Amino acid sequence: MEKYVILGGAKLEGEVEISGAKNSAVALIVAALLVKDVCIIENVPAVSDTYVLIDIINQLGGRAEFIDKGVLRIDGSSLNCFEAPYEMVSKIRASSYLMGALLGRFRQARVAMPGGCDFGVRPIDLHLKGFVSLGAEYTVEYGFVDIKAEELTGASIYMDKVSVGATINVMMAAATANGQTVIENAAKEPHIVDVANFLNSMGANIKGAGTDVIKIKGVEELHGGTYTVIPDQIEAGTFMIAAAATGGDVLIKNIIPKHLDSISAKLAEMGVVIEEYDDSIRVKGTESLKKANFTTMPYPGFPTDLQPQMLTLLTAANGTCIVTENVWDNRFKYVEELRRMGAIVSVDGRTAVVEGGNRLMGSPVSSTDLRAGAALVIAGLMADGVTEIYNLKYIDRGYENFEQKLRALGAQITRRRDGEKVRTVTPA
Ligand code: UD1
Repeated sequence: MEKYVILGGAKLEGEVEISGAKNSAVALIVAALLVKDVCIIENVPAVSDTYVLIDIINQLGGRAEFIDKGVLRIDGSSLNCFEAPYEMVSKIRASSYLMGALLGRFRQARVAMPGGCDFGVRPIDLHLKGFVSLGAEYTVEYGFVDIKAEELTGASIYMDKVSVGATINVMMAAATANGQTVIENAAKEPHIVDVANFLNSMGANIKGAGTDVIKIKGVEELHGGTYTVIPDQIEAGTFMIAAAATGGDVLIKNIIPKHLDSISAKLAEMGVVIEEYDDSIRVKGTESLKKANFTTMPYPGFPTDLQPQMLTLLTAANGTCIVTENVWDNRFKYVEELRRMGAIVSVDGRTAVVEGGNRLMGSPVSSTDLRAGAALVIAGLMADGVTEIYNLKYIDRGYENFEQKLRALGAQITRRRDGEKVRTVTPA
């Protein structure tokens, strides 16, 4: 088993280049299956979620391969299968997008219930409701969702809850439906806009992505082309928080600063200096972090995918802070791990109370999911002494070259096999 070994205390300093957005890339890769042609997607992060999807596409009869660094070629012309079994999809939540893409392409999809990070119940009722509005029928049996439609016809769909996945799935299925689909109360995350732009560049007619009403005029067919994934908002936010957590000074490059407004505002409220440029943000930490509260919300609110990292930073703030998780019902599992490191945090349902100002101590901990893993890395960078982080498979799902990027900023972090001695990680 591999683990990170981190010697805390180093201030992060320098520049870091942010990769393409993982959550966007996984949607675009699947959306490319709507096209009976070649799609070239650039700025695709080399993370394990990407490789899982490449495997799935190849097993479904399509061809997907990296042809250069970050450049993924997907040829969906030979795709001949609309069934995605459990072994394929259980590893990755984004495999739920196969429902919308295969339904759009074949008017039929048989997909095992998707897996992914465990934040409590992860329903797909809104996805299915959307497909039914477009004229599909479905059954759920033996862990499979079977969806079929004689014809897909545009419809008005009101999402009872803001859902990234359901919005993307309905956009994909509606792209080649007959007539116009209107999604109300749509999600507005940057990657929703990215998927709409990608589909439009392939010949779709989608307007309003990024607002809560999206209009999709169905087109006969989509064609291939080349598209570049947007920068990763969550990776950028993770590095911003890591810079603040170590009292460092980091220029975070190749980003869209607007996507990070809620994080910049929260860090500034805590006394961190934020300088915004056209496509970068400089974060300068402070000796004395002010306390702050935050609540996660759909975009443009504070992202749930940065909740564990930001809560970890609050352990160093001057005073008691309250964190409310408004998106997922069980996203504080990692708090138990932070407590091992000396954090004083109590959790009641969707609310956590953090007693700031208590220095963290290095200790062995385990990632409980992707973003929790990143939070534990930040905790390790803040802590006195050595932290060992297990279960790296989660972090590997979504952060490209994480330890290399951190090391280039001065972090003392190495990846080791369990059992290897840690003697090279010593104070300077
Ligand atoms: C996506 C992100 C994930 C992020 C989440 C919220 C990807 C690959 N994953 O996940 O990292 O944490 O957005 O920003 O982009 N819901 C329902 N019924 C449904 C679907 C969702 O009730 O049919 C609820 C969920 O239980 C949750 C909320 O809606 O409480 C938001 O979920 P959703 O936006 O769909 O998340 P994902 O697309 O799975």
